[in-house]
Amino acid sequence: MDIPKGRRMNRLDELRSKIDRLRQESQAALDRCQSLKDCESVRVKYLGRKGAVTTLLGELTGFGSEERPQAGRLLNELKQQIEARLEAKRRELAAREVERKLQEERIDISLPGRPARLGHAHVLTQTLYEIYKIFAQMGFEVYQTREVETDEYNFQLLGIPPDHPAREMQSTFYTTQPGVILRTHTSPGQIRVMRERCPEPIRVILPGKCYRYEQITPRSEIQFYQVEGLAVGHHITMSDLKGVLTEFARQMFGPDTSVKLRGSYFPFTEPSVELDIRCILCGGQGCRVCKDTGWLEILGAGMVHPVVLRNGGYDPERYSGFAFGMGPERIAMLKHRIEDIRLFLGNDLRFLEQFG
Ligand code: FA5
Repeated sequence: MDIPKGRRMNRLDELRSKIDRLRQESQAALDRCQSLKDCESVRVKYLGRKGAVTTLLGELTGFGSEERPQAGRLLNELKQQIEARLEAKRRELAAREVERKLQEERIDISLPGRPARLGHAHVLTQTLYEIYKIFAQMGFEVYQTREVETDEYNFQLLGIPPDHPAREMQSTFYTTQPGVILRTHTSPGQIRVMRERCPEPIRVILPGKCYRYEQITPRSEIQFYQVEGLAVGHHITMSDLKGVLTEFARQMFGPDTSVKLRGSYFPFTEPSVELDIRCILCGGQGCRVCKDTGWLEILGAGMVHPVVLRNGGYDPERYSGFAFGMGPERIAMLKHRIEDIRLFLGNDLRFLEQFG
């Protein structure tokens, strides 16, 4: 600030020269700032509670009443100027920081990505889906029924009264509720679907878990799946049953699969059969799995017993039907040459990952 020659500096002139100095000094300090932290130090030095500008503002009381408003205005202008410059500097540094990050953290889109680990359906679920698909093509719908059953549905309505020797075939898990059990097979679903659909014709499969209080072995679990099949209508015969099961076996195990119906016994079918397929492991030559017979049993079946039809609401004089029940575990074991049923629920990823 220039003072005309011959005039002495008054207080206002002194203030102006201090302001000029602070303006230059603060600008130089801001120019040197490299970070937001540096900016903060500049702010504290000039505008903080004990900063240079704040101190000067505190000294305004020393000015006479004529000079004070002008001094105040000059100081406020300086304060605003420093604030504006600080803000500009902060923005400049923030932009520079963004630019630096963009440069440093730039994504190399040519790098190969990390493959995401994808799970897949359990091998038993896959087998169930395959069974559903084959029967869907033959017009069978999936019907879900309950896992916790009553003794009445699981046994009595299927022709197995208390003390019937056939109860020995399926050791049962009982609950603390009298007459309430975990179903030992999916056949009680036959009665449920018949009672719901009567007098309509029926063509359903009933998949689900079953439970038997049995010794666990490489071929038997205490919890396993079954898929029940039921067809009820007029003029349904044993050859319909044979045709459906043969078609199923060929689609599941290959077009050249040979099948054989062998006489058997179930209290809820008459006549009863079991379906054997020619051993797919040895081609019928005889091996450990087929116990040297050349044949493997995959399901039980038969014509629905007249008593069961009547219990379901259908008149056995006018209606007939067939039913079957298969074990998806045993089917998956044959198809994939799995030698131990316990592997399915063993949760060993080395086993499960083979079916992805
Ligand atoms: C039955 O359970 C009859 N309800 C099947 C049936 C339905 C016959 C309709 C006639 C008409 P069985 O006990 O044989 O039958 O069992 C049928 C299938 O379930 C067996 O062939 C086997 O594949 C499977 N299965 C039975 N018990 C076990 C077990 N403990 N572990 C694994 N699979 C089993």
